[in-house]
Amino acid sequence: MENLEQNPKTNRKEKTQEIVVLRWGHRPKRDARLTSHVALTARALGASGFLLSDIEDKKLKETVEKVTENWGGKFFFEMGKKWKSAVRDWKAKGGIVVHLTVYGENVQTSPVLDKIRQSGKDLLVLVGSQKVPGDFFSDEVSDFNVAVGNQPHSECAALAVFLDRFFGGKELAKGFKEAKIKVVPQERGKKTIVEC
Ligand SMILES: C[S@@+](CC[C@H](N)C(=O)[O-])C[C@H]1O[C@@H](n2cnc3c(N)ncnc32)[C@H](O)[C@@H]1O
Repeated sequence: MENLEQNPKTNRKEKTQEIVVLRWGHRPKRDARLTSHVALTARALGASGFLLSDIEDKKLKETVEKVTENWGGKFFFEMGKKWKSAVRDWKAKGGIVVHLTVYGENVQTSPVLDKIRQSGKDLLVLVGSQKVPGDFFSDEVSDFNVAVGNQPHSECAALAVFLDRFFGGKELAKGFKEAKIKVVPQERGKKTIVEC
């Protein structure tokens, strides 16, 4: 998938870095709600797709796809592929892998985000749930280990802050094409436009 964005300086459409999120360690009974929040956060904050690795959860896929159908934009949901194959295939296509981890380079105090941007390559962002395999930290897997602060918190929060930093807030102003439901922002109350 190619992301194109208008460059106001050159007035030309240029390729921007695509982000796909890989969720590892999903436990259907325990993590259903949180994993759906991770996927919806990925979609709402500018990622173009979501890979639920190593496991299938049809209900989760339905939930996320229903949101995309109603609220628009392009966002794919894939599941079941082994994480090692997903990483291998991503790298074979020329992408880099960013692992979000409390132990990584701090997104605020290190130049890690600049380095990721300068690579110009598409990103596969790995987030865990339970303790991730040690291999995630190796240079065969992750090109960057990034911490959203070096305190433990949540995959959802880490992903949201990372995406917002990466896109510099622009993703929050983005329109979603072919939406059936659109919010009309209000100072108070709820207003939506619903297209059948
Ligand atoms: C709730 S944590 C659980 C981590 C697990 N207990 C362990 O020891 O690895 C789940 C995921 O949240 C993300 N995460 C949590 N805190 C983070 C931080 N400060 N920076 C980046 N990612 C973080 C990581 O992707 C992590 O795999």
